[in-house]
Amino acid sequence: MRVALLGGHGKTGRAVAEALTARGVDAVPLGRADWPDLAAAVTGCDAAYVIAPNLHPDEPAYVAGALAALTRAGVARVVYHSVASPYAPAMPHHVGKARSEDLVRRSGLDWTILQPGAYLQNLDRTGPLEVPYSPDVPFGFLDLADLGRAAAVVLTQPGHGGATYELATRVATVRELAEEAGVPVRQVPDPGIHPWLSAMFAYYDDHGLPVGTRVLEALLR
Ligand SMILES: NC(=O)c1ccc[n+]([C@@H]2O[C@H](COP(=O)([O-])OP(=O)(O)OC[C@H]3O[C@@H](n4cnc5c(N)ncnc54)[C@H](OP(=O)(O)O)[C@@H]3O)[C@@H](O)[C@H]2O)c1
Repeated sequence: MRVALLGGHGKTGRAVAEALTARGVDAVPLGRADWPDLAAAVTGCDAAYVIAPNLHPDEPAYVAGALAALTRAGVARVVYHSVASPYAPAMPHHVGKARSEDLVRRSGLDWTILQPGAYLQNLDRTGPLEVPYSPDVPFGFLDLADLGRAAAVVLTQPGHGGATYELATRVATVRELAEEAGVPVRQVPDPGIHPWLSAMFAYYDDHGLPVGTRVLEALLR
């Protein structure tokens, strides 16, 4: 089996590729250089895993282009890497994923959607944890290795067509993770890197991003 990983050179794509390779699947990471002739790049693949780059200015357009290329190339199976709670109108990049999910569901392809929680690997727990939101709100954190395994399951096993799965390894607050690691934690001001990140931090501050763990447990059983 051969699987194309669109946007596959980042940490997400590497985790999925590693899990696929461990199962004997030929994983083909694709990046910007492949985009001009994406249909040619995915030809011969049995399935595609679609990852949009972080904070893409128009994720629905990126996903629409990917779906069109897969259709042209005759790649019938697609798994779309979305996010937990995509329809959160306060977070523009989440809404881009909600709209992209709709495109995937109406693509005519055999689709599965994964909705990952915040990656555990976003937090470097070897030193003080400084986050621009409350350390006391709940998150469904996802270990990237678990993401890779879950992606490999839905790509290689039958029965996942038409499914949307929320994925989290564990539910915790940042303070709990800091205490476990024995490092201090404190809330810092929003660094103002990108307006969509500021919107996300404000949402996190109020609500966190809780995600249940049972779906992942069932997939990896
Ligand atoms: N971090 C989290 O906690 C979290 C949680 C849930 C979901 N997500 C989602 O995961 C995705 C990010 O994954 P990541 O951090 O692994 O990826 P990333 O590092 O942001 O993206 C890297 C890949 O995207 C390609 N790329 C960049 N700009 C592009 C463009 N304009 N057109 C086409 N391809 C382009 C890169 O190509 P080259 O190889 O050419 O460089 C590379 O292959 C985002 O959609 C994010 O919302 C993240």
